Amino acid sequence: MAFTSLELEPRIGSELKISKESLLSGAHALDIRALLVQRGVLVMRDLYLTDDEQRHFARTMGDLRLGGIKKEGEEGLMKVTFDKKENPEYAKFFFGSQLWHMDGTYEEVPPFATMLTPRVLANTGGDTEFVNNYATYEDLPQEEKFRLDTLKVVHTMQAALFPAKPDCSPEEFALWCTYPARAHPLVWHHKSGRKSLVLSTSASHVAGMHPAESRDLLTRLMWHATQPRYVYRHKWRMGDLLMWDNTGTMHRVLPFDEESGRKLHRFTLNGEEPVSAAA
Ligand code: OGA
Ligand code: MN
Repeated sequence: MAFTSLELEPRIGSELKISKESLLSGAHALDIRALLVQRGVLVMRDLYLTDDEQRHFARTMGDLRLGGIKKEGEEGLMKVTFDKKENPEYAKFFFGSQLWHMDGTYEEVPPFATMLTPRVLANTGGDTEFVNNYATYEDLPQEEKFRLDTLKVVHTMQAALFPAKPDCSPEEFALWCTYPARAHPLVWHHKSGRKSLVLSTSASHVAGMHPAESRDLLTRLMWHATQPRYVYRHKWRMGDLLMWDNTGTMHRVLPFDEESGRKLHRFTLNGEEPVSAAA
């Protein structure tokens, strides 16, 4: 084995120790992918990858995302920052990343994985937290698993963003509404045979359920899923490369000083399977 790994929390997150050469060779891509979906989040320290190296590594891991509904930055590079000058197209959406979410739930096939390297650290705050939604599903009582298996949840951009900006302008709200609403099963039966909860602040309501009952259920599941035993909290250091399996986790950034210009460079891998219910 050209790399070793160390568990960061019992239920989520591993630190991978690997040389830059081994990482970029692609020779271990399958093993790294397997560990990623097993552990939800992989962290590598002290790599100091350039954009080209990060993009190259991303391509060894899967299908590099060049554009979703709108085209993403230069050859897949997305600058994750609240600074609208740095990212005129997307910075206006990133405030929503402070709420627990999965990326791209408005798409039929949500992105598989995301990789971040820090470029400017926040002076204060700005840690990123992750939840393992395989583990949160696993721990539910059996009767509840049966019940949740039958449900579909409608995800919308308004549900994702409004709670983070209740004083938005009508124009902003109208922009969010241009994104499609998307129904996904609440329990994802992955091709691998494993199952995970599909939870995100973007979850607007359970299809066909009374709105009050739906809100209760989604709130309770979010409470369940964000208990400390399912969470890994990442404190960023320059040189880091962090990757998460977007199909089995959710994430959020903790509040930070926006004047600091916090910025991360991100590459994303396209999804490989739609959110599928039980056959
Ligand atoms: C993202 C995201 C969190 C962060 O890039 O999708 O939610 O810590 N980022 O900036
Ligand atoms: Mn995100």
